[in-house]
Amino acid sequence: MVVKSQTIGKVEHQVSAEQRHARNRHKGAVVWLTGLSASGKSTLATLLEKHLFSLGYQVYVLDGDNVRQGLCSDLGFSPEDRRENIRRIGELAALFAHSGTIVISAFISPYRKDRALARVAAEKLDGVSFQEIFLQADLEVCEKRDPKGLYAKARHGEIKDFTGISAPYEPPEHADLIIDTGVLSVGESLELLAHFVERKVVY
Ligand code: ADX
Repeated sequence: MVVKSQTIGKVEHQVSAEQRHARNRHKGAVVWLTGLSASGKSTLATLLEKHLFSLGYQVYVLDGDNVRQGLCSDLGFSPEDRRENIRRIGELAALFAHSGTIVISAFISPYRKDRALARVAAEKLDGVSFQEIFLQADLEVCEKRDPKGLYAKARHGEIKDFTGISAPYEPPEHADLIIDTGVLSVGESLELLAHFVERKVVY
């Protein structure tokens, strides 16, 4: 990434990643959920958050619909705006995770390149891991669910640049975990996800 300012240095923390992990008794991480609208990202993210919180983990969900009302309220759904959306979230999630938190992000994040940059933002920080998790529900399934009625609107041309209909989704080629949320129940998907994340953040 190009840094505009030429007159900035780096401030070193006086608390190490190791110290943060020791206090929390788990590592920080970015758990990056990607998939089509209605693939189950928000549902699984918030259930995982509740589950891990009840076990005593420091955990927080960053969700597209929420973040787009604040930090990213100036962004729409063009490829450039999505890139900027994911860039900001990627950097934010990395900082949260560096603080020792398990960040669960729920964004469509349709472009491989943008997700790859989010991984770079996280992995450049000491002690932070990035897990890309693909919620693999087919367009047909997501469109049938259509909980917000957005697919129907997109089909009628009332929403443009809609992922899966009039904008692309690039599935991960090397996801760390794939969950077929079109076939598995919410409970089964959560169990897989929770088991996977707990193994990754063991201190
Ligand atoms: S992303 O592509 O930039 O990652 P993000 O996850 O933040 O998208 O936002 C997606 C949410 O915005 C969807 O869950 C849906 O509710 C809403 N939305 C509104 N317009 C669109 C659109 N054109 N494409 C996809 N999602 C849209």
